[in-house]
Amino acid sequence: MKAVVIRAFGAPAGLEVVDLPAPVPGPGQVVVATEAIGVGGVDAVIRRGALAAHGFREGHLLGSEVAGTVTAVGEGVDSSWTGRRVWAFTGLSGGYAEQAVARVEDVLALPDGLSGADAVTLGGSGAVAHFALRKAHFAPGETVLVRGAAGSIGITAVQLAARSGAGAVAVTTSSEERGARLRELGATHVLDRSGRSGAPDAPTGFDVVIDVVGGPGLPDALDALHADGRYVLVGVVGGQPPEDFGMRLVHGFRKSLTFATFSADTVPGPDLQAVRAEQFAEAARGELRTVVHDVLPLDRAADAHRAMDAGEVFGRVVLTP
Ligand SMILES: NC(=O)c1ccc[n+]([C@@H]2O[C@H](COP(=O)([O-])OP(=O)(O)OC[C@H]3O[C@@H](n4cnc5c(N)ncnc54)[C@H](OP(=O)(O)O)[C@@H]3O)[C@@H](O)[C@H]2O)c1
Repeated sequence: MKAVVIRAFGAPAGLEVVDLPAPVPGPGQVVVATEAIGVGGVDAVIRRGALAAHGFREGHLLGSEVAGTVTAVGEGVDSSWTGRRVWAFTGLSGGYAEQAVARVEDVLALPDGLSGADAVTLGGSGAVAHFALRKAHFAPGETVLVRGAAGSIGITAVQLAARSGAGAVAVTTSSEERGARLRELGATHVLDRSGRSGAPDAPTGFDVVIDVVGGPGLPDALDALHADGRYVLVGVVGGQPPEDFGMRLVHGFRKSLTFATFSADTVPGPDLQAVRAEQFAEAARGELRTVVHDVLPLDRAADAHRAMDAGEVFGRVVLTP
């Protein structure tokens, strides 16, 4: 089967299309013939070699979520899965291929009317947005800031906050055009990446911050929390925050602030799958929007990574075998 591996760490040109043996499902596993493959920010991090110390070596087969049809099941898996259209989490490897392996508990049947591209755009990210807002104890009427809203997590977080009756949904983004697209999805105020806005009515404080970015701007965003404000960091696409960022919390002592990280790894699998199933159904009914930036053939995986590296992607790039 055709697959894409990291031949050399670094630039996207280090990705290589190769021919690999088709996978065989082990006990508790299924094989999915892929129709859509999600390209995530973490794939670029692995490609650059930044996770080499965590066991990700050159030769690694990238990709963590796919949609397609189950073609084979391993020992202990109900044979009725065969032939079903599914979304599947493959871990942090194995997705950039014509056939991918997943544990059956990481597989979810797709509702009619949901495309594979939409499924891999929403599957991993939508649940993160849902549980991050829950972790923040977000309540109707509250003012929310989503930092880094133009990715799949932020796009879902904006919609969930808006439809749950947020008092305001502010977003950070890098251009007016992207801001206009986020307004269509429910954002009420558009800020630049540093959190500033020229608009006189822009909120200057927030009850909740959902942060995909982290980076050097994190302490200023902490300062923007209202009393009893809650900050949930879900990603660090802008790099690590300053090591002493916690001092801002201490300086804001009398505001009773809360800072939390959130990782989907801490959510029980069945809870993640239940939220995903609900979001897939909502997306199929048109109640939750997914934004597919581009669909490219698998052999153009390097171009997908170039677009991510250049900051051109709004939503998610999807590969097709
Ligand atoms: N917590 C979890 O369980 C979990 C699960 C999956 C993934 N993640 C993490 O979530 C992140 C990916 O999420 P995603 O796919 O939604 O994000 P993404 O698409 O990679 O990035 C979101 C937006 O952040 C902005 N951005 C990029 N670089 C920036 C910088 N240097 N400074 C400020 N803004 C910047 C860009 O928008 P603008 O150009 O418009 O500013 C970009 O569109 C990764 O860190 C990944 O590890 C977390």
